[in-house]
Order: sequence, then structure tokens, then C-alpha cells
Amino acid sequence: MTTVQVTTPGGSYPIHIEANRLDRLGQVIPDDATAIALVSNVTVAAHYRERAETALAASGKRVIYIELPDGEAHKDWQTLNLIFDGLLQNRLDRKAVLVALGGGVIGDMVGFAAASYMRGIRFVQVPTTLLAQVDSSVGGKTAINHPLGKNMVGAFYQPIAVEIDTAVLSTLPDREISAGLAEVIKYGLIIDADFFAWCEQNVPALRALDRQAITYAIQRSCEIKAHVVSQDERESGLRAILNLGHTFGHAIESGLGYGIWLHGEAVGCGMVQAAELSALTHGLPADSVERVRTLVQAIGCPVQAPDLGQEHWLDLMQVDKKTEGGQLRFVLLSAIGQALCEGVPAQALQQVLEKTAAPARV
Ligand code: NAD
Ligand code: GLY
Repeated sequence: MTTVQVTTPGGSYPIHIEANRLDRLGQVIPDDATAIALVSNVTVAAHYRERAETALAASGKRVIYIELPDGEAHKDWQTLNLIFDGLLQNRLDRKAVLVALGGGVIGDMVGFAAASYMRGIRFVQVPTTLLAQVDSSVGGKTAINHPLGKNMVGAFYQPIAVEIDTAVLSTLPDREISAGLAEVIKYGLIIDADFFAWCEQNVPALRALDRQAITYAIQRSCEIKAHVVSQDERESGLRAILNLGHTFGHAIESGLGYGIWLHGEAVGCGMVQAAELSALTHGLPADSVERVRTLVQAIGCPVQAPDLGQEHWLDLMQVDKKTEGGQLRFVLLSAIGQALCEGVPAQALQQVLEKTAAPARV
């Protein structure tokens, strides 16, 4: 087993990475917990609910189960309320522990529920998608979507542990693997050029979930994310670089309707757009832009953005948490492995949208 430690003012906790970790979940439940609420969705539950419940019950605590509908389109108030319904109907108190078993949608919603139920109870992340294992389960960002903007309502709230079972990835559809790999290569792009080059060299192994390659990719991603959030938990500076490709990506997700493109697919395409923007504003060399495009395509994510119309694109991008005083800010690359967050000239943005979000030519 590999352990990566996260240390923030809001909480310090281990990330355990190991095949079949699911069977050892009971080990992370604190002795003073009064009950456990396992939260998942119908898809993940069909594969893993029974094993998770058995492992949690081994802690000797009462385990209740709450099931949510599956999908980004359900990451909303109505679904969040189902968690509170379950907790209240079962009379769970302040010393209960929530366990999020699922991808980023479950993790973000359970985290938000934990942050607000009785003004805050403990929770454990058990991420079951690659994207959740390398990104969303770590760092304490929790949220639901608003029809006008992605992840616009939420809280910073750290889990007490992140339990990563690499074996559960075997039931994940290929498209979800590709989406998760987009967030993996993001870490190379923003902070670690050697890791980006390693990803370039290991695409077939990563897509095939080769045990050694995927475990290393998860570990390195968690190390980088832990390093960044340990320095800037609440995104007052450095943490913004974790949003490379997200201003474009979130616009794609909300512009097309949540769930049409996967979050990781939108981020992958958004990183290509951010690289194009970086070439115009920060002299990112053309061959680096091509390396980004080639790798995003190689992992199986789209590189041509949808044509939402220039005005609509700009409107959608305005609803971004990095926007300050109406001024859009983007994560940009001065080189592969070096990121910064800044405003850009309107003309450069327009040029990039024309180039990357044009209707496909036939
Ligand atoms: P997801 O949670 O929708 O999961 C993708 C699909 O895979 C779902 O249908 C799910 O039921 C299914 N699934 C999950 N695990 C499975 C398994 N092992 N086998 C078979 N099917 C499985 O999507 P996601 O990509 O995991 O997460 C995306 C969400 O994460 C977005 O809402 C995004 O905003 C959020 N996010 C949050 C952060 C953060 O820091 N909090 C970071 C990145 C993304
Ligand atoms: N996924 C962006 C962040 O955690 O800050």
C-alpha cells in the first residue's frame, strides 16, 4: 500500500492507494463514530455496495445506505436533499461518518452534505473513477451545480481519509478512463514536465490500466495535488493552476447541458484551448501546443471544441470562480510544466475560440 499525506489548515489526512482497499474500509472509521452512512449510486452500488457495507460493518458500527440517482445532471439541490432525508430519517447524529462511494459526482455531493449536516460531520472519500482517484476526492472541494454555472454552490471541507482501490477501475467504461487521464496529464502540464513526458510514453499502458502504470499515475497525481492544496487550501493563489482547461471546459459542460460531455473530456479539450491561448499570450512554443493536442487525442479525449457561438462562449465563461470584478482569468502555460493564472486580451480569446471552437469543416 502507498500512502500520500495531505496537510491543510482545514484538516490533515492520508490517501491510501492499494488494490482491493475496498475490503479494508472499516479500518478508517474512528472509534467514536456512532454510525456510518454509505452513499453511492445505482451503477456503483451494483458492483461494490455489498463489499463496502461488509467492510464498514467490520468496524462494529451501524451502517445505513443511501442511494442517489447516477449522473452529472443529478448533481443538484434535489439530490443533495436525499442525503439529508436519509440521515434524518435514520436519526444520525453529529458523530456519524459519511462514506462517499463513487465518482466525482458522488464525492462532491457527499462532501457538501458532510460540510452542512448539523454544521459539519466527518466523511471518507472512496473514489471509484480514475478522475475521482486522481483529483476530485483530494483537496476538499465540494459542490453542486446550478443551472447557470458548474460547481457554483459548495464548500471547502476536507475528508478524514481518501481510500483508493485501484482494482475497481476494471469495471469503468473506457470513456471514463480517458476522461480521468485528462486530469492526470493536467498535473504534468502545470507542474511536472517529466511526468508529462512519462504520460506521453505510457499512453497504451495507461489506457489498458496496466497495474504498475496506473498505480504510479494515481500516486504521482495525488502527490502533486496534495502538494498544491497543502500550500493553498482555499485557492487564494497557487491552487488556481489546478483549473487548467477548466474555464473552457466548464463552459462546454454547461453550454451543452451537464452530462453530454464528461467533465474530463471537457477539461481535456479545454487544455488544448488553454495551450492555444498560452501560445498567443505567453509565447508557449507551437510544438508544445502540438504535444498537448497530441496527448489529449491519444488518451481518447476530444480536441475540437463545440461551436456554442462566440457570444454564448463568452457568457458561459463569465460564470467562473476565477473571474474577478467581471474580468475573466485563465490558467496559462509559459512552458510545459509551468503554469500561471491571469487575464487575457479579448482579441486573443476571440482568436482562440475561432480556431478551436469552429464548426467542423466537411
Ligand atoms: P461520475 O461521478 O459521474 O462517474 C462517472 C460514471 O462512472 C458514473 O456513471 C458512475 O456511476 C460510474 N462509475 C463510477 N465508478 C465506477 C466503477 N468503478 N465502475 C463502473 N462505473 C463506475 O464522474 P467523474 O468523472 O468521476 O466526476 C466528475 C465530477 O467530479 C464532476 O461533477 C466534476 O465537477 C467533479 N470534480 C470535482 C473536483 C474537486 O476537486 N472536487 C475535481 C474534478 C472534478
Ligand atoms: N480540481 C481543482 C481543484 O481541486 O482545485
